[in-house]
Amino acid sequence: MSVPQHVAIIMDGNGRWAERRGQARTAGHRRGVEAVRAAVESAGELGVKYLTLFAFSSENWRRPQQEVNDLMGLLKFFIRRDLAELHRENIKIRVIGDKASLKADILSLLTEAEELTKANTAMQLIIAFNYGGRDEIARAARRLAARVSQGDLNAEDIREEDIGASLDTAGIPDPDLLIRTSGEQRISNFLLWQAAYAEFVFLPCLWPDFDRKAFEEALDIYQCRNRRFGKTASQGLALGT
Ligand code: FPP
Repeated sequence: MSVPQHVAIIMDGNGRWAERRGQARTAGHRRGVEAVRAAVESAGELGVKYLTLFAFSSENWRRPQQEVNDLMGLLKFFIRRDLAELHRENIKIRVIGDKASLKADILSLLTEAEELTKANTAMQLIIAFNYGGRDEIARAARRLAARVSQGDLNAEDIREEDIGASLDTAGIPDPDLLIRTSGEQRISNFLLWQAAYAEFVFLPCLWPDFDRKAFEEALDIYQCRNRRFGKTASQGLALGT
């Protein structure tokens, strides 16, 4: 049975989870943090090597200021509470997204998490924070353009690999499986370049309800898919075999 090496998740539905209970949206995000903790644990136990979580998009700044503050606070809470344990579990944390416009306190916490865990080898937890796929590609294009203008690279020689190596995810294999909870079926500017051949699994459950069983269900669906990478069905890689 083939376990995806890299699973990426769009954690959607915190607000609806709270609204259905007559609670403030923040309550849903708080429960969402507990689901994050459980998902990291499940991923490790199931043999997933890279887990990327979409925690805050570059478009999420448009939410009401209070909700933005709550989401920032929850990321800080998560790192402060769980960093030591994640480190003990030998998990390497990496953050993708535009760090340049983050507040100093968030940035220093994220940097601390990356520094402390950089030599860990059991699993990589990649937190997409202030992340947008188009923004990431635009920043990569600027990096490549700077290399061209410095005479370090010929424009005609730019290959797909150079673009991949200029993205925030440089060195991380592309996701094999992309899960979105809450029944929505959109990519929402997440890992646009990297998800070129990912299998997409859309689950109806809301993110705070995403548990080990839901994770296993997504892996079961993935294992029934036939990944072809542009080849014919008979050449493709049947995952269930
Ligand atoms: C989508 O639900 C979820 C988010 C915008 C944020 C996800 C954040 C967390 C799970 C908590 C913080 C993360 C970490 C890594 C500690 P929504 O608010 O769009 O829900 P809705 O579509 O039902 O309104």
